[in-house]
Amino acid sequence: MSSKITIIGAGSVGSTIAYTLAHDEIASEIVLIDINKEKVEGEVMDIEQGTCFRSPVSLVAGDYADAKDSDIVIITSGIARKPGQTRIELTQTNVNILKSITPQIVKEAPDAKYIIVSNPVDIMTYVFTKISGLPENQIMGSGTILDTARLRYGLSEHFKVAQGNIHAYVFGEHGDTSFIPWTGAYISGLSTDEYYEEMKAHGKDVKPLDKEAMLEYVQKSGGKVIAKKGATFYAVSATVCQLVGLILAASDSLATVSSMLHGEYGIEDVCLSTLTLVGPNGIQGKVQMRMNKEEVALLKKSADALKEVIAQIEL
Ligand code: 2OP
Repeated sequence: MSSKITIIGAGSVGSTIAYTLAHDEIASEIVLIDINKEKVEGEVMDIEQGTCFRSPVSLVAGDYADAKDSDIVIITSGIARKPGQTRIELTQTNVNILKSITPQIVKEAPDAKYIIVSNPVDIMTYVFTKISGLPENQIMGSGTILDTARLRYGLSEHFKVAQGNIHAYVFGEHGDTSFIPWTGAYISGLSTDEYYEEMKAHGKDVKPLDKEAMLEYVQKSGGKVIAKKGATFYAVSATVCQLVGLILAASDSLATVSSMLHGEYGIEDVCLSTLTLVGPNGIQGKVQMRMNKEEVALLKKSADALKEVIAQIEL
């Protein structure tokens, strides 16, 4: 596949994304940009010296000018969450970093699709949407694709069934107000309650699903990994590379990415994740999945929490 992808920020997340894109043969040209030149050169050398087992790929430790004509730009810059720190506490620092990056990269790659990964990702996606001047279809935040991946993993462990059979999502903020709309959660064609009953009838050793505990597992996973190893980067990089694949695909897909809402579920002027149509033309809009009243109320609560933060930041 011939595609040029620029990654801004050569920290653990940006570098792991570059490594994954190189090794999974998703990109043919990868540009990695960071203010720390030594670090970015070291990362590129380390990745390119292991590329002899794949088709040729060009890796550049570059500057903004090298990003010219990129198909996709992935922004990972920012200060990472420290143990015990919430994503929201990072906000203004990372907003300021984004404000300095945006004009430089948009000038070089005005037609690229942009994936914002820096935290707090919904706020950063909102800020980028407001300041970049780019059409909204070109902008998405990684949002709750990682939370959704954690949910699918958690459900597959609980029910001992392949993750590919699980269609369940995490909506809202990538953070403390996220929630699982169980109304739209299926294991193949069965709700999780129906699937439990089926497995019991088959004599399988399964326990009833504790839905609150599953949400807690999803919400606390990032913090737990950070507490144990200082950062999370493998799972987030895998989900971002999956998203890159969706953008480079021939048809649209559904994914829980963060993007601007325009009245869907009665919510507007905030970026958060619900089912979204993503493909070669970027974001094609939110797809309104059936949710019950309580779930819609949870989405509104998540939107309100994000709006409170937006009201406090300097754009
Ligand atoms: C995560 O959830 C830190 O937001 C990142 O892994």
